[in-house]
Amino acid sequence: MDIKEILSAEPIGKTIEVRGWVRTFRSNRFIALNDGSGVKNLQVVVDFETESPELLKRITTGACLQVTGEIAASQGRGQTVEMFSTDIKVLGDSDPDEFPLQPKKHSMEFLREIAHLRPRTQTFGAVFRIRHALQFAIHKYFNDNGFFMVHTPIITGSDAEGAGEMFRVSTLDPKSPPLTEDGSLDWGEDFFGKESNLTVSGQLEAELFAMGLGKVYTFGPTFRAENSNTTRHLAEFWMIEPEVAFNDLFDNMDLAEDCLKYVIRYLMENCKDDLQFLHDRLIEEEKSLPQDKRSIPLLEKLESVVSNEFVRCSYTEAIDILRNSKPNKKKKFQYVIEEWGADLQSEHERYLVEKHFGKPVILYDYPASIKAFYMRVNEDDKTVRAMDILFPGIGEIVGGSQREERYDVLKQKIEDFGIEEESLWWYLQTRKFGSCVHSGFGLGFERLVSFVSGMSNIRDVIPFPRTPKNAEF
Ligand code: 4AD
Repeated sequence: MDIKEILSAEPIGKTIEVRGWVRTFRSNRFIALNDGSGVKNLQVVVDFETESPELLKRITTGACLQVTGEIAASQGRGQTVEMFSTDIKVLGDSDPDEFPLQPKKHSMEFLREIAHLRPRTQTFGAVFRIRHALQFAIHKYFNDNGFFMVHTPIITGSDAEGAGEMFRVSTLDPKSPPLTEDGSLDWGEDFFGKESNLTVSGQLEAELFAMGLGKVYTFGPTFRAENSNTTRHLAEFWMIEPEVAFNDLFDNMDLAEDCLKYVIRYLMENCKDDLQFLHDRLIEEEKSLPQDKRSIPLLEKLESVVSNEFVRCSYTEAIDILRNSKPNKKKKFQYVIEEWGADLQSEHERYLVEKHFGKPVILYDYPASIKAFYMRVNEDDKTVRAMDILFPGIGEIVGGSQREERYDVLKQKIEDFGIEEESLWWYLQTRKFGSCVHSGFGLGFERLVSFVSGMSNIRDVIPFPRTPKNAEF
């Protein structure tokens, strides 16, 4: 039986075999054993009078054991049942002088250096069980709502976001690459016969499928070679991208809000122990901070997201709010907002969400000049039907838009953005044959996991983070 199952079924009087890793071993008598099935450990009571001293010595933090024993109601505090061992086998020894995880608090930075062992900790166990449940809830949400999942390519020839932040995929020899007559690199000689990269987004291909299957989504890895060393950026992250034929921008907002609320509610109902553990952890972590510097307790924060309507605010209104805000007037923002058209930085997004509105905000109708080429141009010819969802503590968690469905306008935009039309001929062609209004968005999976787990650094919610100068493990 899994330890989680034992703790919930409480099979008192039964003899059971469990396998797991030793978290602690106290007084030569009490083993806290964890097998990863849940955040709670099973307390194994060892009969130190009958067990050999050699075996007792091998029960160290980190060792892997197989234990058989009888389940009994617990006399001690902290658990309802415990196991009295009748047989203990050490499956894998762990030298206590070398094992880096000691039963004490370790810093997140240190744990990142030993990312191969951090799944053995309570915190990372909780985070990665939640990450699993969240991806399951996302698939369930879309499946239950009639969406089809599409596996869009990871290697592509196009730059969906037009930001030029791509990792190149090539088999050419960097020491002696083939050159053309004018001395430039001859991509024709490369594996794909053209320049290719890791995708920054599955959106463009998802759009092609939406205009055939109606409601689709992708959920895959995406890659960005931006040199952002922040707590919110990864070079490799996972993105959920629904794309829906006939949805306009407001339908798109409804879908995103409904989806986010559904998956968070799913976690609150299905991951109670792990969320409670992370909730308590955050309170403990911040207890030395002054009251006004502490975050909203995790469970309260999640409850407030599922039970409040997200604010909808146009970019133009947001600029007015920011221009008249205290930090702007006192020049406390690093980037002072002066004019309409300014790109919003995370300090502005966080001011709107955390200080001004105090709940999630959907900003929409952004200036065309600060958004990607594929967004539907509004009648004012200045703004596009874009929307970003901003969450407290995280900032932007979703970016999406209604797509430009008019052939001539899209062709012109591609040209104005300096994108080679040949690289997007297939995308443009869908606007020639039965084009229609359609919309979609991208939800950053790790930003969502950060939000729901209360982990403040995005590197701690992905198994092995890839960031500038770091691709260990
Ligand atoms: O706003 P972005 O760049 O939008 C797109 O890629 C669109 N093609 C999506 C679409 O409409 N189908 O990215 C979407 C989300 C962001 O809101 C953020 O949550 C996440 O992806 N994201 C990142 N997460 C971690 N690390 C990074 N470097 C990220 N860049 C974006």
